[in-house]
Amino acid sequence: MYCLKKITDDLTWVGGNDRRLAMFEGVYSVPDGVSYNSYLLLDEKTVLFDTVDKAVSRVFFENVTQALGDRKLDYLVVHHMEPDHSFTLEELVLRYPDVKIICNAKILTMIKQFFDFDIDSRVLVVKEGDIVSTGKHELTFFMAPMVHWPEVMMSYDKTDGILFSADAFGCFGALNGAIFADEVDFEHNYMQEARRYYANIIGKYGQQVQAVLKKISAQDVRLLCPLHGFVWRKDIEKYVEKYERWSTYTPEEEGVMIAYASVYGNTENTAEILASRLWDKGIKTVMFDVSVAHTSDIVAAAFRYSHLVFASTTYNNGMFISMEALIFDIVNHNLQNRTVAVIENGSWAPVSGKLICAELEKCKNMTILEQKVSIKSTLKKDQLAEINAMADAIAQSMGRQ
Ligand code: FEO
Repeated sequence: MYCLKKITDDLTWVGGNDRRLAMFEGVYSVPDGVSYNSYLLLDEKTVLFDTVDKAVSRVFFENVTQALGDRKLDYLVVHHMEPDHSFTLEELVLRYPDVKIICNAKILTMIKQFFDFDIDSRVLVVKEGDIVSTGKHELTFFMAPMVHWPEVMMSYDKTDGILFSADAFGCFGALNGAIFADEVDFEHNYMQEARRYYANIIGKYGQQVQAVLKKISAQDVRLLCPLHGFVWRKDIEKYVEKYERWSTYTPEEEGVMIAYASVYGNTENTAEILASRLWDKGIKTVMFDVSVAHTSDIVAAAFRYSHLVFASTTYNNGMFISMEALIFDIVNHNLQNRTVAVIENGSWAPVSGKLICAELEKCKNMTILEQKVSIKSTLKKDQLAEINAMADAIAQSMGRQ
């Protein structure tokens, strides 16, 4: 049965929710599910903005059919070719063979890569700044390369101030009945997932996000319609401000994220003593066991906090496996502008600290504190001074005592 949500008099959400997916894109846990958003504009011409993943195809087609009523589908705008938004594209064309597909040249190439149906006879290729009028509404197209694929573009409906922003401004989590961000307590219940979504999916491409934010700033955006999560109609500037911060790799708050890898609890014990010292100094600290926490949660925390501490046992003469995966992920996501401290452990040849530092030095503007702690098997009483010195150095780098 169809399940529609009205966005404006002319625009209807026709997407679907998946709460059974274990790993989004095969790598990100989505314990609260995910939504695949598609929007239908009913103007003199009818326009569908993107399709959906195969997981929600049934309800999607029921939604489109219901929302269209007895009207035909004139246009499909394709903003992004990742299959969570394009898997059902071919079926849509089979159901609505007269539909004209609006996309850019890179998207056209990708449609041909993913599908074999005849696209050339039904495509309208647009480029930066092109405008398509659908009657009352006027759509302008903006290219958004590498946010987060090269072909991505966005559409701006000047009439109602709607930005169809592709993956940007999306969020993990299924829509549980509400469609607007202001209907829920987004800050407390969803911002963490929005951050995790941004950091892991788009985080690598800060410069490209900055370019898009510049384009957006010139428009009067009154509604933000992403491909995942809520539609924004209030406090858009606050969400944009988060994107400004994340895309410039500016910490959201002063605090320490400690990620540790500990086989028998001794590295964990050392990390806990440091955390205790930091809290004694009034410094907010969060801790993650990298073998238990999902990497995407730790990457999100690394985007949030100003200071990062990595504590790892040595394993096969390297970093511990899950620590290595985390460090590589952080480097690959282009994180910058953080202060880092390192604790290493090793019962005969501790080397994990040196290896962690060597990787993180690939990131821009990472300050690695000189105060390192290297333990053999367990932290000894006479090394407590080293932990205290590390806590002092972190505090000093924050301008505290
Ligand atoms: Fe939601 Fe990049 O696809």
